[in-house]
Amino acid sequence: MKRIGVLTSGGDSPGMNAAVRAVVRTASWLGIEVVAYLDGYSGLVENRTRILDDRAVGNVIQLGGTFIGTSRCPAFHEAPVRAEVARQMQADGVEGLVVIGGDGSFRGTLLLESEHGVRIAGIPGTIDNDVFGTDESVGFDTAVNTAVNAIDNLRDTGESTGTMFFVEVMGRTSGAIAANVALAGGAAGVAVPGSVEEIPRLVAHLRNSIASGKRSHIIVVAEGEELGGAFGVARTVEEQLKSKSRVVVLGHIQRGGRPTARDRIIASRSGEAAVRGLAEGRSGFMIGIQGGLPVEVSLREVVERVHPADPIETARLAELLAGR
Ligand code: ADP
Ligand code: F6P
Repeated sequence: MKRIGVLTSGGDSPGMNAAVRAVVRTASWLGIEVVAYLDGYSGLVENRTRILDDRAVGNVIQLGGTFIGTSRCPAFHEAPVRAEVARQMQADGVEGLVVIGGDGSFRGTLLLESEHGVRIAGIPGTIDNDVFGTDESVGFDTAVNTAVNAIDNLRDTGESTGTMFFVEVMGRTSGAIAANVALAGGAAGVAVPGSVEEIPRLVAHLRNSIASGKRSHIIVVAEGEELGGAFGVARTVEEQLKSKSRVVVLGHIQRGGRPTARDRIIASRSGEAAVRGLAEGRSGFMIGIQGGLPVEVSLREVVERVHPADPIETARLAELLAGR
């Protein structure tokens, strides 16, 4: 193998740069040149590339975002576009592709493999932690830490003024960020997708804790929550408790920032393992981290299954530990 491609796709996540660095440095060690496709599948479709050598990935391990860019690329859904991509890759001598992204990105790359025999490897990079086959995706740990830091700040003002805050976190349809942020942030309550019928219980819980003298409350709400995110849940709770509250939507703040050490370690291990797998002749796998170690998981299985973590169980634990 003389040359491979790498791209980051979908929503950026902290640690993607560390993964690209590991891909490049491992490939370089093995005598393989790395071509970055800029802005995800858009760069692949438009053949916008940049050769990355060891020096090109210097001083990026600590940077959030992705320095090679990312996008959501509707054109890649079209079969003739993918056919042209595969032809161009072959013409350019690109013998394999490492895709760093979420399950949507993996669906796309699997089509390149099944339709045109392109050799592919995936690294899960998404703050949502909704990818099957890995304990954690690159970026999840940083996003959780960022949201917990924000909640710590809100606690200061909340406790000073006796305010109830509804804090909306990202995660698309997955409640993983919300549940884990609630647990780590010591939230009084949490609403995750699939728990809409639990709202009366949340209201009762808040009523009790107000009665027992709790001065301020943080309730974490997942953006995909059926009642309409933090604004919707806040409205429902306000109506029933006849009280006022404030809403904070963390939004894209959670996507940026310096990756935690944990995300850098996951990214580094995954980048190395992805290149080794390709170099040893394998294709169609994702590097998952299971029990702290990188393992190859079938990409086909990854896109057909869902991450087994149970946000509702974590959410219940967070509420139990919030006390009465
Ligand atoms: P993520 O990878 O984070 O789940 P998306 O679902 O937005 O993010 O997917 C990222 C990109 O992957 C899309 O913009 C598109 O270019 C490509 N993609 C996603 N699903 C498919 C699909 N079924 N077929 C072809 N390309 C896809
Ligand atoms: O998938 C990552 C993510 O940040 C989700 O948590 C969120 O729902 C989505 O991307 C937002 O995407 P965009 O930046 O395209 O609006």
